[in-house]
This record gives sequence, structure tokens and C-alpha cells, in this order.
Amino acid sequence: MEILHVSAECYPMAKAGGLGDVLGALPKYQERAGHIAKVVVPMYRTRYLYKKEWELVHEGHQQLGSYSFPYSVIRERSRELGFDLYLVDVNELLDRPNIYGYDDDPQRFLAFQVCVLDWVNSWKHRPDIIHVHDHHTGLIPFFMKYAHAFRDRLHDIPSVFTIHNAQYQGWLGWQHREWLPPHDEWKSGLLEWADQINPLAAAIKSAWVVTTVSPSYLDELRHQANGLEKLFEYEKGKCRGILNGIDAEVWDPQSDPLLIKNYSKEDPFLGKLANKESLCRQFGLDASKPLLTYIGRLVHEKAADLLPEAFYQCLHHYQARVSILLLGSGDPRLQSTFQEMAHRHKGLFGAYIGYYEELSHRIYAGADFLLMPSRVEPCGLNQFYAMRYGTLPLVRNTGGLRDTVVDMGDLNGFGIRFDQASVGDIVYSVGRALDLYEQDPGHMQSMQRHMMGFDHSWDRSAVEYLELYQSIR
Ligand code: ADP
Ligand code: GLC
Repeated sequence: MEILHVSAECYPMAKAGGLGDVLGALPKYQERAGHIAKVVVPMYRTRYLYKKEWELVHEGHQQLGSYSFPYSVIRERSRELGFDLYLVDVNELLDRPNIYGYDDDPQRFLAFQVCVLDWVNSWKHRPDIIHVHDHHTGLIPFFMKYAHAFRDRLHDIPSVFTIHNAQYQGWLGWQHREWLPPHDEWKSGLLEWADQINPLAAAIKSAWVVTTVSPSYLDELRHQANGLEKLFEYEKGKCRGILNGIDAEVWDPQSDPLLIKNYSKEDPFLGKLANKESLCRQFGLDASKPLLTYIGRLVHEKAADLLPEAFYQCLHHYQARVSILLLGSGDPRLQSTFQEMAHRHKGLFGAYIGYYEELSHRIYAGADFLLMPSRVEPCGLNQFYAMRYGTLPLVRNTGGLRDTVVDMGDLNGFGIRFDQASVGDIVYSVGRALDLYEQDPGHMQSMQRHMMGFDHSWDRSAVEYLELYQSIR
């Protein structure tokens, strides 16, 4: 089977979060299972672009309304990722240093989508599946069926839409309808939700099947989906929850080149300690205390706004019992709050504000506990990385976190789960973690070894996707 993944991110070319990780790994595992998996993303000006050699595979011309532009498609020559990675280059629109965050993002991703379809339309053969991810590529299933330029050759290729995050939907006012390629106007209702063009809703309505990145998240979307609850209820028949996996080669404490010291699940403690000591030296923290960390985007859905007060209370209540280290970027106000805290609570709290892939690996390895108090967590990959590196997850009981972490008070448990995204629940859970660390190190170590033995690689979920594709072909 030949699968074409279309996405805004793909690690290591472009990653802002877990979407990039998924697109950098799932296709590799699909290839290993004997299929052809290709990935196409916009050509941003990232470091990876300049490090690799590329070959031109296609040139074409497209337009958004009256704005007409040339585009090209290039392919990474060495195939080092284990699959073919293609980039769509649209001068001025896509070739920018960042993935998101520009006022014209709607035009950028619209241009990307029409170029991808125009390119696929030019292939001599056709892919067996077009698999699109999140709202940035959500108009593709609709265009494949109803855009005049594409429908003849593409309408009967099965499309799969995976929702990594339904909070962001790509809304676009109807006044911009002229940007869309000519299509069957009488089908325009499929593009709409709440009087706007809504690419996420359009994909849910138009794709052959829809998946979410964990089963629990799918259940939750029927009650909490940023306005799309009724749509999820209505379309539940074509929706499936398939849990994400991880790239167990990139994320392996035994071979990870980014660690200070590698370690195995059989004997992890000296290696973890070496990484912890180096981190604590770097951030001026005391390595003899348990190290609690947060890694992630500083946004409302991750409940990052609760962290300043929660950390302050932890430092206050638990006095000298814990060191805290945060790695993140996002809300500028939170960023400066954490910077100030690092200054004010020197020796107790450290922060790196920004995106730093290498440091994240060292923190997963060196920390004792990883906190994820998310209000919404479609799957979450951090908890998988933490488990693989022997770091106990403290997670809110939601979405993919509910599906992957078992509280240590339950049968075969290995982490800490709490119900509310609240300062109180976070502080209480940190208290449980510190008691465990201080009073029952034997139990803690056996849970660490237990978690490190889990196989959360893509092997299992890649097969689930393949079975899903087969079922709709
Ligand atoms: P989301 O995609 O919602 O941000 P996930 O848990 O699925 O959440 O994935 C987050 C990914 O981004 C992980 O690989 C995590 O290590 C990484 N990450 C998040 N913030 C940072 C950061 N500031 N520096 C380095 N890596 C980060
Ligand atoms: C999204 C979600 C996250 C998920 C990731 C990869 O960014 O917020 O929970 O793990 O996508 O699917």
C-alpha cells in the first residue's frame, strides 16, 4: 500500500510539538511493515533544510483567488528518515523560519494544500491512501471530492483525517471564499461550522474516516470540542481512537546521543543520576533532592497558567524537599513570570524559556518526576518519553493521559494521576511524589524499571492504522 501523509510538521524538518514527532515516526514504522509511506510538509527555512541535499521532483503553478504563484516540490535525497520526505516550496508564503504564527497562516496553509493536490494530480499513478493531519490540511478531503481541478482523478482515493488537536480549527471568514479553488458550490455546507469556513469541521465531514490520537480523547470530544461537540456526536460512526506511539530509536536511554550518560532498563539508576547531576549543575539546583520537571508549550490547554502558583506553593509547603526545572515556551507573560521565579528562587527553581530539543532529552533522563496537568491532552507524548527514561509521570486524568498512565495506588500502577486541573491537585500530587521518593525508594525504583520495560513504540499503532486503511480501500 502507498500512503501519502500531508502535515504541517515532520520531525526533524519541522517540529513545534507532538504532531512533528508523530509524522517523523509513524511513516518509518509503516515502511518497516512493508508499505510505502511518504510525507509532504511545507518548505520552511529550518536548520534541517540547509543540512540536507534535496532534489527537484515537480514544478507547477497555482492560485489563491487572483493571486497566482509558482511552486515546486523537492525530495530529501538520502532517505535517511526511513521514508520519502517531500517539501512544497512557495516563495514568500511558506519559506519562513517559523512553522506558525503569521497573520497570513490561513493563506499559507491553503496554498500548501492546493499545491499538494495539484502535485498528486500530476502523478502517473495514484496513492492508495491520503492521510491528512489537523486543520492545516483539513480542506484536502473536501477538495479531493469537490474541487473541479482535482476531483476527476482524486475523488475516489480514500482519505483519512487524524485529529491531533481539536482546539485549533483554522477558522476562516466567508469573505475569503474566493481563495478556495473553484468547487461545487452546492457542497459548500460541508465547509461550514457556525457561519465560518472551518477546516477541521470540513475534514470531519468530508474524510472517509476520522481518527483521534487516543480513545479517551474521542469520548471527550463529544462533550468538549471547542464548539464541535454536536458534529462529533453526529459523525461518531466514522471516528476511531488510535493511541500514538513513539519512535523507540530516537527515544532510547540506552543509545540516545544527547544524554550525558546512557543507561538501560536493567540498571538505570547510576545513569539517571549522572544526567540529573549535570542538569542540576547547569541550573544551580540541588541534585540530592527529587527533581520535578515540566516540559512543554506554555498554553492554557496544558494548564501552564496554574504552574507559577503551584510551583510557588510546592516550594513553600514542601520547603527544601524538591527541586523544580521547567523547559517551555508560549505565553509571553508566563515566560517572564518563570524567568522572574528562577531569579527569585535561585537554587530551588530553574527555567529554560525557549524550544530546546537536546535539553528536553537530558531532562527526561535526569528528572525524577514529570508533571502534566493538562486541561486537554489528545494523547501526549511527554509521558511516554518520561516512562521510557524511567521518570515517573504526574498527570491529570484526561485524554491520552488517562489511557496511558496508571496511578501507583492501583493494580500494577506506576505514576500519579489527579482529577482536577487545579493548583490544589497539583500540589497534593507533588506531595505524594515526594513521600514516595523519601519513604519508599524501593517501590519507586521498581515502578521505574516496570515503566521502562513498556513497549510504546509505533509497532502496535502503525498496524492499527494499516488495518484501518485496508478496511476502507
Ligand atoms: P503537544 O504536541 O500538545 O505540544 P505532546 O506531548 O504530544 O504535546 O508533544 C510535545 C513534544 O514537544 C514532545 O516531543 C516534547 O518533548 C516537545 N517539546 C515541547 N516543548 C518543548 C521545548 N520547549 N523544548 C523542547 N522540546 C519541547
Ligand atoms: C497534539 C496534542 C498532543 C498529541 C500530539 C501528537 O499536539 O496536543 O496531545 O500528543 O498532537 O498527536
